[in-house]
Amino acid sequence: MIDDEPTGSRLVDLVCVGCGRTTAADELRGTCPTCGGALSARYDLGPSLDRDALRAAWDRRPLNVWRYRELLPVRSTRSITTLGEGGSPVLRLSPERLDAPVELWVKDDGLLPTGSFKARGMAVAVSRARELGARRLFVPSAGNAGVALAAYGARAGLGVTIYLPERTPEAMVRSCRQYGAEVIKVPGTIADAGRTARAEAPPGSFDVSTLREPYRVEGKKTMGLEIADQTRTAWPDAIVYPTGGGTGLIGLWKAFRELEELGALPGPKPRLYAVQPEGCAPVVRALEERRSRVDPWESPSTVAPGLLVPSPFAGEWILRAVRESHGEGVRVTDREIVAAVRTLAGRHGLSASPEAAAPFAAIPHLVERGAIRPRERVLLYQTGTGLPFALDELERAVSGSAHPGRAGVAR
Ligand SMILES: Cc1ncc(COP(=O)(O)O)c(C=O)c1O
Ligand SMILES: [Zn+2]
Repeated sequence: MIDDEPTGSRLVDLVCVGCGRTTAADELRGTCPTCGGALSARYDLGPSLDRDALRAAWDRRPLNVWRYRELLPVRSTRSITTLGEGGSPVLRLSPERLDAPVELWVKDDGLLPTGSFKARGMAVAVSRARELGARRLFVPSAGNAGVALAAYGARAGLGVTIYLPERTPEAMVRSCRQYGAEVIKVPGTIADAGRTARAEAPPGSFDVSTLREPYRVEGKKTMGLEIADQTRTAWPDAIVYPTGGGTGLIGLWKAFRELEELGALPGPKPRLYAVQPEGCAPVVRALEERRSRVDPWESPSTVAPGLLVPSPFAGEWILRAVRESHGEGVRVTDREIVAAVRTLAGRHGLSASPEAAAPFAAIPHLVERGAIRPRERVLLYQTGTGLPFALDELERAVSGSAHPGRAGVAR
């Protein structure tokens, strides 16, 4: 990439998901100025865009987040802050080692910089925030988003403050500090960390909380764009995704909608299944009960810290993505999650965090209830590496004998 040239971004404006108001895109902005809702980036994908030239340009570039820069918000290549994110492999699980009669594939984002899919969102959000003049950023995080922000902030030369729930895995706390971020631990869940962050963040610092700024989800969109490029001849019928704050799921859906508009979708849009742990399943409950909004979950608890999100900010947007895709919600127990961590590692050679293993744990449920039919092709999104977690501690936590250690059930 040349150092300073236009990216060719087709970004037009931001549309509020709540009230529909449009807002100018080229100023630093978090949420809708009218109703406080989440903002969704809109691109000009109309007839003035030469689709063949776009396809050819994508095919010439390496498979990573920035291959798709026309569908990303960053205007100048000089603004791009990258650690080489994206381009994770899509692997087929050996059929003879599976208990279910479905074709399972895994896209493994545990291999990305900082060990999770959060790198995609932070690469784009940090690049864009810097382009629009931000000097300091903050985020409440269950761990992975914090580590990613710390790394990309360091790379971009921006100050970073991270608010972590007290029981965040120590490896993630250490990592944030190692990248030079200021770390503040807060009792409770990410909801408490978020309240503290918004009340106490250093003056002038920009909030990159999940869906409270418009561009992390744009980076997550590249998951869907890559899937379309990597599975042209093995296009999935369904994608199973672990859902906390919902950016991953929304990003996938946005990718498929935009590809459809471009006439570049290899097949029908895949059904999206949102997986949550039984101890914190506000999105799944809203889907099951056909509610129009996601009500807060009381007394949340799970071994998967990234899924301990009792009240996602953009709940209605998540519900819309799952429903429009003709998908569903699915609950898994912590015990099933930990068994899936063990199986993915021992039987398939894949290192998965508890969140990342949840989709694998959901498969028997989806097959049993007929949501996924025999011989369908299913892609499990593996969102993060298992490295920060000790399997024996996870197993103790779900066997009931856990004393409240670091990997104990987060509350
Ligand atoms: C590994 C992992 N998977 C999934 C999630 C949930 O992602 P989202 O907030 O996009 O729903 C998180 C969030 O922290 C995570 O760290
Ligand atoms: Zn609004």
